[in-house]
Amino acid sequence: MMFQIEIDNLNKHYGGFHALRDVNISIKQGSFVALVGPSGCGKSTLLRTLAGLEKTSSGDVRIAGQSVIGKPPRERDVAMVFQSYALYPHMDVEHNMNYSMRLKRRPKDEIAERTRTAAETLGLSRLLDRLPKALSGGQRQRVAMGRAIVRNPKVFLFDEPLSNLDAALRVHMRSEIRKLHERLNATSVYVTHDQVEAMTMADHVVVMRAGIIEQQGSPLELYDRPANKFVAGFIGSPAMNFLPATAADNGALVLDSDSVRIGFNRDIAAGRQVWIGMRPEHLSLKPGVNDMTIGATVTGIESTGSMTFVVLAVASQPVVLAHAGRPEACKGDQVRLHIALDNLHFFDRETELAA
Ligand SMILES: Nc1ncnc2c1ncn2[C@@H]1O[C@H](COP(=O)(O)OP(=O)(O)OP(=O)(O)O)[C@@H](O)[C@H]1O
Ligand SMILES: [Mg+2]
Repeated sequence: MMFQIEIDNLNKHYGGFHALRDVNISIKQGSFVALVGPSGCGKSTLLRTLAGLEKTSSGDVRIAGQSVIGKPPRERDVAMVFQSYALYPHMDVEHNMNYSMRLKRRPKDEIAERTRTAAETLGLSRLLDRLPKALSGGQRQRVAMGRAIVRNPKVFLFDEPLSNLDAALRVHMRSEIRKLHERLNATSVYVTHDQVEAMTMADHVVVMRAGIIEQQGSPLELYDRPANKFVAGFIGSPAMNFLPATAADNGALVLDSDSVRIGFNRDIAAGRQVWIGMRPEHLSLKPGVNDMTIGATVTGIESTGSMTFVVLAVASQPVVLAHAGRPEACKGDQVRLHIALDNLHFFDRETELAA
């Protein structure tokens, strides 16, 4: 198979600091890839390496089959949209958008045509003579994307482009960027620290931590089958609950903090110490099929209106339950907690890998 971008065993050192460790990613033409992970894990470094703004220490990066190692940014056919999109304040929208083409002294007709098409695509046609200060945050963000689009690149690179926008606009722009990606039949690599953004926008999500890829796959693969405790806790909101437990020899797990037993449906050797992972949305105060039930105390209730998060103490460990709607429970209540056994996750306590 021919990939649009291939990253092979990429390493990046900043002096003695190992910022990217043996990174391997293959990206198909037309796909939308999200790089996600906590602050400082190397997302921007990886993106800047693709753009040619950062030198690699070892490994290879190929775009459309050609190694781009050592090639300057302008020879890579990629366009990058940054978080701080810093438009030129004294230039109107049109001149901000076609600045790079004017620098390259492209023919006037071509500049005009490409600017016109990009403005149309982004709904900016009526704003071409406005200065940035007369635009809303979302409009400015679209101009920043316009600057990338007019270059007609093979690959779009986005580094947290929406983090300066308010929540509602961010949700709107997510779907705008996704639609744009589809309309242009582009290949996009999108950096975000927001796992919800990654899950909703991308067809392939790469989860990084401390310069290492912890797991990559489709959004639902990561949600359904997290390879380790870190990915399990990072993907999903509210985050997965973890309870420390030890396997007994009679096919049960015993919570370490108490002698509460949880039945399980996996082959785990007696004596093995694990984390039991349970997603808030797989817990319920109502019985279901193939559930197991344990006692819990309600220690808090948080409501968003549509969802209620019930904070419970299970054997003195905090556990969050997500309930669509409004549960009949109050702080201080003793309740029966129903756990959907098929949806439990187990992680080895030592390696933190899925058990
Ligand atoms: N020029 C540099 N010199 C030395 N260390 C650097 C340099 N640039 C980045 N780093 C380090 O490399 C690591 C990765 O940085 P990077 O900017 O890629 O993180 P990030 O995942 O984009 O984080 P954020 O979500 O905060 O933007 C960090 O620990 C950072 O301090
Ligand atoms: Mg960054």
